[in-house]
Amino acid sequence: MKYRIFGRTGWKVSEIGYGMWGLASWTGSEEKEVDASLDLAVELGCNFFDTAWAYSEGLSETIANRMLKRHADKQLYVATKIPPKNFIWPSKREFTLDACFPPDHIVEYTEKSLKNLGVDTIDLQQFHVWEDGWAEDERWQEAVSRLKEQGKIRAVGVSVNRWEQNNCLQTLKTGHIDAVQVIYNIFDQAPEDQLFPLCKEMDIGIIARVPFDEGTLTGNLTKDTTWPEDDWRSTYFVPENLESSVEHADSLRPLVPNGMTMAEMALRFILCNETVSTIIPGMRKAQHARQNIGTSDGNGLTKDLLAELKKHRWDREPTWWSQ
Ligand SMILES: NC(=O)c1ccc[n+]([C@@H]2O[C@H](COP(=O)([O-])OP(=O)(O)OC[C@H]3O[C@@H](n4cnc5c(N)ncnc54)[C@H](OP(=O)(O)O)[C@@H]3O)[C@@H](O)[C@H]2O)c1
Repeated sequence: MKYRIFGRTGWKVSEIGYGMWGLASWTGSEEKEVDASLDLAVELGCNFFDTAWAYSEGLSETIANRMLKRHADKQLYVATKIPPKNFIWPSKREFTLDACFPPDHIVEYTEKSLKNLGVDTIDLQQFHVWEDGWAEDERWQEAVSRLKEQGKIRAVGVSVNRWEQNNCLQTLKTGHIDAVQVIYNIFDQAPEDQLFPLCKEMDIGIIARVPFDEGTLTGNLTKDTTWPEDDWRSTYFVPENLESSVEHADSLRPLVPNGMTMAEMALRFILCNETVSTIIPGMRKAQHARQNIGTSDGNGLTKDLLAELKKHRWDREPTWWSQ
């Protein structure tokens, strides 16, 4: 495993981190399988884990708690998130800070996450939705500064809404944000335009999330794939989205090098961007953890393939199903 510096925190984080949403919230998660996958990831050098209170109301955090206890001898970094008070994802331009992150709510959910994680300090506390219109509101700034002073959090991050990578730029400029979590993958390259240069300039850590476009960039979804009704993906991959996403992924098939999977190519594409601090693929199976971590070998992709993949940029606008 190779490591990168996580912005101004100075932490040495594994370039392949671990996304902990699906393991608590998606259908088909098996506790033993999930624990084994996490343990293997730790053994292979993964040291950055992304969870959230909202991932089954603390369940994902308690899974992280057990993992931290099993590996108490290792330096592992855990990032979690404060849910918006109105529990609506994503936020909308007209939502107020009072509706989403009033100071007492920031404190309340930090306390809940500390308890769920079984730690005295949260490494990275993130806002689970964000509106740049809140940038100058001193109430959130004071709340997170106080939590830092009290030793309850080490760093503060914003997890930006899907396909709204610039809906945080003014907020970053306030200097109160240490890390940004954003969707970045072969399709979603727009963060390269403004967000990444600003993060570089301000030494802000970058977490690239959803590296497989929620599954299409593994090459394993078809236009006929279905999910149980209570699985979030059944509401996200509505026919309009599933069909076009599968078509976009299918157009990549001729580019996948011999001996490589599309999932591997997707991760290597992101690894080629040195501004990214860590990638957090969602994974529940040891075999996926092994394959994904195996991409952190410094080999990246050939220049020609990278140039071809750049052409597959697909700028999308948030819509009723995108969440
Ligand atoms: N608003 C937010 O802040 C927000 C929103 C979305 C996601 N996130 C974070 O980002 C993380 C990653 O996003 P995601 O989990 O939604 O989507 P993702 O990483 O794009 O895709 C996850 C899917 O890829 C599969 N997969 C993983 N490795 C694979 C491999 N080597 N080969 C084939 N399939 C593979 C997983 O299968 P298995 O599960 O069966 O292993 C799972 O179905 C989340 O876990 C969460 O921590 C944050």
